[in-house]
Formats: sequence, C-alpha cells, structure tokens
Amino acid sequence: MELIIDTADLDEIKKLDALLNVDGVTTNPTIITRSGKTPEVVIPEIIEYLRPDQKLFIQVVAEDYDGIMEEARYINGLRPENTYAKIPVTREGLKAVRDAHNEGLGVLATAIFSPESAFLAALNGADYLAPYVNRMSNYGDGIQQVADLIEMLAVQDLDTKVMAASLHNTNQVHELILAGIQAITFPPAILNSMIDQPGTVGAVHDFTASWEKNYGRTTLRA
Ligand code: G3P
Repeated sequence: MELIIDTADLDEIKKLDALLNVDGVTTNPTIITRSGKTPEVVIPEIIEYLRPDQKLFIQVVAEDYDGIMEEARYINGLRPENTYAKIPVTREGLKAVRDAHNEGLGVLATAIFSPESAFLAALNGADYLAPYVNRMSNYGDGIQQVADLIEMLAVQDLDTKVMAASLHNTNQVHELILAGIQAITFPPAILNSMIDQPGTVGAVHDFTASWEKNYGRTTLRA
C-alpha cells in the first residue's frame, strides 16, 4: 500500500518523512491555501524537498475542460516523473481525465463521492481514484462503497489504484487497509495519532524508570 501525506505543510512532510516510508504528497486548493504561502512559493518548496521517486499530486483549479487540460499539462511538467494532476470527476473533468491520460499525463481522479463515478474515471484511464471516504459517509456507508470500488476494479481487471482521501479517524484507516486499499492519503493529524500511542509511551516510561531505579542508568550497557 502506498502511504501518502495530504498536506502542503513542508514541516509536517519533513517530520513524517523522517520516520516513515512516505510514498508521496497530495494537495488540493484548500490545502495549499492553509499553508499560508502562495502556490508559487509552496509548490516549488515541496518539489525541491521530495525525492524523485516520491509522488506528487497537485489539483487543477480550473473547472472548464480547456483550463483543466492546460493545468494538467503544467502540473505534469513540474517534475520529470511521478507527478500527477488531480482532476475532479465533474462532467468537464471526466472528459479531461480521458484526454489527459491519452496524452500520457499522470492523472488522479478526485472529489469522488460514488463508486460508479469512480469506475467511469477508471474506464477513462485515471491512474488513481480518490474517493472522499469521510464525506461519502454522510450519505451512506463510505467504507463499504470504497471496498466495493476496489472489488469492482478487480473483477473488471482494471489496474487503476484507489487512494482513499478525506479520512477523519484511524478506524476508517483500519477498515480500508483490511479491504485491500492500494493507497491512503493521510491528514498529518491522523498519521500522528497512529504513531503516538499513549500506551506505548507509558510502557517505555515504566521500563526505563524501573531500570534506572535498580541500575542507576537509562542505557542497557554501563
Ligand atoms: O484529499 C481530500 C481531502 O483533502 C478532503 O478532505 O477532510 O476536507 O473531507 P476533507
């Protein structure tokens, strides 16, 4: 499974990349605005930091077909490889997914709210599909719908990957891993809550305290 971070906060990217095998970074227009920097500053910063093998997914802002295509070409031209344009699955977007794929551009179909529209984007050649799991859960069982999508792609022999997005708790992560999800884009807060288990920290503290009390040091060897 690919581990992706859903943020444009370079400090968060660096912190998480220092201790996990991070496969890439996703952003969207709102996430870029939250960085407090302009896109002209923050996008090059992220590009400068990422290794060439780490993937970068940047979302188009234009809503019309010509604008989406122009931005998809621009995004794909930012790095020699491993760069994908995120295109929302609107009517204009679906058409752009097909044509961008036919031009050889990397495409992630995003803002997905149903397995059926996701499936159309897969048929149009998207490399990745990003269902908005938590937002889908407002209308039904978002996890089950994503599990169905994974199955639909498998039985139809499509190699499009599903990248779960819009995750709001670790139980959603747990269920999606069990369902065989190919990629998850994690908000840093969710990843940090998976890393920082209070029970683990407490157990280590107790081990160290008993060791220090008995041997007067906090290392294995004197
Ligand atoms: O990657 C998609 C994501 O950023 C949307 O998440 O939390 O706004 O539903 P959220």
